[in-house]
Amino acid sequence: MERSTLVARGIKKSFGTQADAPVLKEITVSFTQGMSYAIMGVSGTGKSTLMHLLAGLDTPSAGTVFFNEQNVHKMSVQEQASFLRSSVGLLFQLPYLIKELSVCENVMLPALIAGGSQANSLKKAQHLLECVGLTQKADARPGSLSGGQQQRVALARALINEPAFLLADEPTGNLDERTGAEMVDLLLRLQREWQMGLIISTHDVHVAERMEHRYRLHDGMLFDEVMVREKEASEVVLTR
Ligand SMILES: Nc1ncnc2c1ncn2[C@@H]1O[C@H](COP(=O)(O)OP(=O)(O)OP(=O)(O)O)[C@@H](O)[C@H]1O
Ligand SMILES: [Mg+2]
Repeated sequence: MERSTLVARGIKKSFGTQADAPVLKEITVSFTQGMSYAIMGVSGTGKSTLMHLLAGLDTPSAGTVFFNEQNVHKMSVQEQASFLRSSVGLLFQLPYLIKELSVCENVMLPALIAGGSQANSLKKAQHLLECVGLTQKADARPGSLSGGQQQRVALARALINEPAFLLADEPTGNLDERTGAEMVDLLLRLQREWQMGLIISTHDVHVAERMEHRYRLHDGMLFDEVMVREKEASEVVLTR
């Protein structure tokens, strides 16, 4: 299988005037399909900002994001729509389901928008609901489901077009510890089975530790977590 890549090169992002410190200063990082990654960092360090840039939902002040060497900010409208539909799946802290539609219709929607037939989209949605353990809830309204169940519906919806990467921005942030851990189990199981790239932002060190690669956002820059630990260890030695 040819593995897709998602690469940020020299990303900077400021929101305010030039006098305001940029949220992201100089981020260069490369993600490969089939691997799992955590982006850690305290609140306000720019995790969501970075995830939005990687998904091409926002444009950087400088630098570029490439999907398979293609600049995601210079895609045509059609190319960008196709990238968002089928190359990256997005999962947020809240499920953002459409409450007037059934669970199954919510999951089907991106497949229908991508031009899939009703019958094929239904078949895929039913399979995904089985994967996330919600077959029994297919005809229910999202409002009648628990928070954890709704987040699993959002996951099924994010995966229906078989994306190369799943970008999950604090997907367990709103769940209790046990439900959050189950969500991570499910994310990792599907990531391995489908050989997706999983990029998950989190405050939670227990979630991060389950990913193959870990980065920490701090002061607008991204640090390899292994290097951060080595640096902390050397500082401990130096201060003794
Ligand atoms: N659209 C925007 N306009 C202005 N400032 C913004 C915008 N989006 C984010 N910011 C600022 O950028 C900084 C980083 O925000 P971001 O949401 O990326 O942090 P985060 O690490 O995801 O935090 P959290 O863990 O609380 O979700 C914050 O100071 C925030 O106020
Ligand atoms: Mg955030």
